[in-house]
Amino acid sequence: MKQYLAIDIGGTAVKLGIVDEEGHVLSKTEQSVCFDNYETPILTTVLSAAEQFLKEQAVEPQGLAGIGVSAAGQIDTRKGIVAGTCGSLPNYIGSPIKAELEAKFGLPTTVANDANCMTLGEVWVGGAKGYTDVIGVTLGTGVGGGILTGGRLLEGARGLGGELGHFRTHALDGVLCTCGASGCWERYAATTALVRGAQPRNPKWKDGRAIFESAHAGDPTILALLDDWTDEIAQGLAGMVHIFNPQLILIGGGVSAQQELLIDPLAKKVRASVMPAFAEGLEIRAAQLHNDAGMVGAVYYFRQSRGEI
Ligand code: BGC
Ligand code: NA
Ligand code: ZN
Repeated sequence: MKQYLAIDIGGTAVKLGIVDEEGHVLSKTEQSVCFDNYETPILTTVLSAAEQFLKEQAVEPQGLAGIGVSAAGQIDTRKGIVAGTCGSLPNYIGSPIKAELEAKFGLPTTVANDANCMTLGEVWVGGAKGYTDVIGVTLGTGVGGGILTGGRLLEGARGLGGELGHFRTHALDGVLCTCGASGCWERYAATTALVRGAQPRNPKWKDGRAIFESAHAGDPTILALLDDWTDEIAQGLAGMVHIFNPQLILIGGGVSAQQELLIDPLAKKVRASVMPAFAEGLEIRAAQLHNDAGMVGAVYYFRQSRGEI
């Protein structure tokens, strides 16, 4: 059975894995990266992490069928480079990910946006298996999006399609976004937006975990903030539902494990916000592959681009 190197480049970590042609993750590792005072280009870290991982696994590059990369930011999939901003990651834009990996390992390589890969991973072996019209959304530091329409990933002209976090839900009076515009959905719907609202009220609410702990304990301040936050997420999703008419919306990211406090109220709000015809048969669920979705989807993207599937 063919095996692939899968790499997932995110804002806080680089994940590496060996994935087989059925989408099983055979082995994996994760290296956290601190991009705040980042002097080494991210791609340099990725290249050495990949070399070290293969060595540790005693895998020879010649034994692999290729490399699939999932990467945050606007990825020009034709060229395999980072074409545009992702948060404030330094030394990232312009990174020739495909060319450098191909040169180093002598393996064909594809690169695609992280949330596009997450969506494909779910379609291949996760919660969207068998569906043709899906919106995948990841809630984290930013908001990522992936759209499957008529069974195909919506890529647009350069592979940049599906950048849902920068859909302008508050265009006229919105919060400034890392992309330079204001009012992007991401500023309101990301986990960081929830934290931004909570932390000034109590410093202990410094991340999603602490916030949901208090929510489970019934803290009224947090419950009110969660209600506003899920309203923001639902409003963005409702707009997208009218454009794409999905059968399924999959919510990914660490917070998606919060069924009663996030997924259930969100599903209710989206249904209530869309025209009734769009709500019929619409499912809204948590994604299934968690941490592995990007890696698995990157391999699926590779295999599709190479005509293997
Ligand atoms: C970036 C996207 C990315 C998402 C999730 C956003 O800020 O613009 O490219 O998919 O974060 O990582
Ligand atoms: Na995307
Ligand atoms: Zn933006």
